[in-house]
Amino acid sequence: NAMLSWQRTGFHFQPPKNWMNDPNGPLYYLGWYHLFYQYNPDAAVWGNITWGHAVSKDLINWYHLPYAMQPDQWYDINGVWTGSATFLQDGSIVMLYTGSTDKEVQVQNLAYPADLSDPLLIDWVKYSGNPVLVPPPGIGTKDFRDPTTAWLAPNGKWRIAIGSKVNKTGITLVYETTDFKSYELLDDVMHAVPGTGMWECVDFYPVSTIESNGLDTSVNGPGIKHVLKSSLDDDKHDYYALGTYDAISNKWTPDNPELDVGIGLRLDYGKYYASKTFYDQNKQRRLLWGWIGETDSETTDILKGWSSVQTIPREVVFDKKTGTNIIQWPVKEVEKLRSTNTTYEKIVLKPGSLVPLDVGLATQLDIVATFDIDKQALEAGLEADVGYNCTTSGGSSSRGAYGPFGLVVLADESLTEQTPIYFYIAKGTDGVANTYFCADQTKSSTAQDVTKLVYGSSVPVLQGESFSMRLLVDHSIVESFAQDGRTVITSRVYPTKAIYTAAKVFLFNNATGVSITANVNVWNMDSAQIEHFPLGQQ
Ligand code: FRU
Repeated sequence: NAMLSWQRTGFHFQPPKNWMNDPNGPLYYLGWYHLFYQYNPDAAVWGNITWGHAVSKDLINWYHLPYAMQPDQWYDINGVWTGSATFLQDGSIVMLYTGSTDKEVQVQNLAYPADLSDPLLIDWVKYSGNPVLVPPPGIGTKDFRDPTTAWLAPNGKWRIAIGSKVNKTGITLVYETTDFKSYELLDDVMHAVPGTGMWECVDFYPVSTIESNGLDTSVNGPGIKHVLKSSLDDDKHDYYALGTYDAISNKWTPDNPELDVGIGLRLDYGKYYASKTFYDQNKQRRLLWGWIGETDSETTDILKGWSSVQTIPREVVFDKKTGTNIIQWPVKEVEKLRSTNTTYEKIVLKPGSLVPLDVGLATQLDIVATFDIDKQALEAGLEADVGYNCTTSGGSSSRGAYGPFGLVVLADESLTEQTPIYFYIAKGTDGVANTYFCADQTKSSTAQDVTKLVYGSSVPVLQGESFSMRLLVDHSIVESFAQDGRTVITSRVYPTKAIYTAAKVFLFNNATGVSITANVNVWNMDSAQIEHFPLGQQ
């Protein structure tokens, strides 16, 4: 089936077949980046969860390796679930992961590389004393999972966080350990947010408010904020907040309680979940992986034989310009795949216009675009559009004075299928212009079994800035970054017509009140090399 096989990606990480979910234990070791991931060896649906393993020199081209861990012990026989890696001070590695036991109780287990002289870290040993942690009193046996990377506390002990819930309050439990075998639960939770439900895949890390490099997980002190991220089991989205971590009291306090974890900012407003960062000591940066699931039906996933991809890893930094959010940006290495470049300068988009961009094969692209509006026109005629909302305000065909405008990707010539990614500017209740960044899936496919929502959120646009977006288009995926990565949206789309050479790109301006000037750079993207490592044993 040519339509289904077209959906496999060209430069995103995917196993050759079957189901994948969360990224696990990412790390850099002796010249190699390691990615482990939740994997079903037997089918394109969730189950039999095993740790897949792949390595890369550059985060773009990958080698598949043998499974790192399989569900073969009483304490993980129902699944080797999500976990994280920690480097100890002597350079050795410990891996903590959740096991679903023979009785489906969630416990934490310890594993470590069998041979630290092997840069590929092929063999993993499960500690004979597993499990190292069982659900504490008051915590449900199915509400205790996904240990974080450990950080060093001022008392010299390691701490790890584990997500859970009490009634409907999402919480972060913290344990202290010296040997990763025995642990002590700290009396108070590090943080709790009522109404957010079970917290999966907690991530906790420092960001510098001064420097542009990333920070190792244990770093704390002046000029540092801490990001707390949780994946909400109830609504399947990743939420984060910036705050301050007091290591003495083990309390994390959000900068803005109204934008607390689970009720404020999302890492990604599209199809994205169970993300995890790690510190890349090779290039002094913090990198973020996220799981991109499918939005078609399970029946179709079984038919095509695979389900899910991982994002292009994103570098994460604090946004020094706004002070209110982090910035996510695809790793520099992805630019190695850029080939033919087509540039469009000062294209004037009149109200209601649509301009095709002739970029050749448009199924694998990296697009950088900026849009400028005459500021006086903007201030003069700004509509009071109270409560614009990407999801509920009618998508790309709903016209206002100053939006929507942007790009249409994965569209056929006649636009029967199209995925518009756009800005919309409206006056909020405070009378100030708010900018929204949205991705409209409603016309992305004529297929019936596909979820077709409009995703998006507001994005800060500062004085003097153009509206800017970057899109990574890769067959059935579009990763969209606004204003250098302040707001991010990942789309899964399943065109039936706009595929192969029929896929096109357009600029559009559906605003009624203003012309827009666009500058666009489009690169065709080569495919990454993702293959089995020549071990002779696969
Ligand atoms: C998140 C999650 C984790 C769990 C794993 C199981 O997607 O549900 O909480 O450890 O996936 O595959």
